[in-house]
Amino acid sequence: MSVGVVLILGAGSDIGRACAHFFAAKGHTIQLAARAPDRLTADQTDLQLRYGVSVSLHAVDALETDTHADFVQALPVLPDVAISVIGLLGTHTKNLKDTASAVQILRSNFEGPATLLGALATQFEARGSGTLVGVSSVAGNRGRASNYIYGAAKAGFTAYLSGLRHRLFPSGVHVVTVLPGFVDTAMTQGMNLPPRLTAQPGQVAEAIYYAIVKKRNIIYFKPIWRVIMAIIWALPEEVFKRTRL
Ligand SMILES: NC(=O)c1ccc[n+]([C@@H]2O[C@H](COP(=O)([O-])OP(=O)(O)OC[C@H]3O[C@@H](n4cnc5c(N)ncnc54)[C@H](OP(=O)(O)O)[C@@H]3O)[C@@H](O)[C@H]2O)c1
Repeated sequence: MSVGVVLILGAGSDIGRACAHFFAAKGHTIQLAARAPDRLTADQTDLQLRYGVSVSLHAVDALETDTHADFVQALPVLPDVAISVIGLLGTHTKNLKDTASAVQILRSNFEGPATLLGALATQFEARGSGTLVGVSSVAGNRGRASNYIYGAAKAGFTAYLSGLRHRLFPSGVHVVTVLPGFVDTAMTQGMNLPPRLTAQPGQVAEAIYYAIVKKRNIIYFKPIWRVIMAIIWALPEEVFKRTRL
């Protein structure tokens, strides 16, 4: 991949930080976007000193959808690659009782990231180049009792990315859908995750990089998740509804 500008949406997350390091190490200019970009000044300095690349900070809130077009217009340069790692897990039991929490999960994982990438897509399409990367989740592959609100939002986002890829292909813009299983981040802190099924943020960043280079459409890591989800998907609903997943 030729050296260009990489925008990271949700840059304060562990996966976002790992992406910033991976792409900066390859010589890319980095745009870090987050709700509170002031909190990223140490990251900005570190990336600049460590890799000798230019790093800028930008404010964005995925839930303020009417600002997204202006956010894109205000970027110092339209990026070559935009990666959305924005997401919110929340607590499923709370979301079942509290409508406002459920709505926040639905909007933070679907509506916000979708409209942000949609605003970028319009500009990328007009230019006729670029790659959009959306970090969704295997949770979106089938609704399960234990996390179907988050899962439904991710399912919507995954479908949105599929449609975006279909729409943008003729214009030369590529779209990568990222479907992590478990990743060892702040989001999963305190959870007892099986090591063999759990990726590190650096592995996710590396996989995203090579997915862009190889123009892959949908990526899983670890690959075992593709098998697990194929099995879960293949279960007939009559069987599936009796399981406890
Ligand atoms: N960890 C896993 O096991 C796992 C598995 C599958 C998928 N994923 C997905 O991977 C992505 C990154 O997750 P992570 O594990 O690195 O968790 P994380 O640290 O909680 O990252 C979530 C990021 O989303 C940002 N965010 C949330 N709401 C936002 C909003 N309204 N506007 C702008 N930014 C917002 C957060 O920003 P603040 O810093 O401002 O809060 C944070 O940077 C998420 O989309 C997540 O759903 C994670």
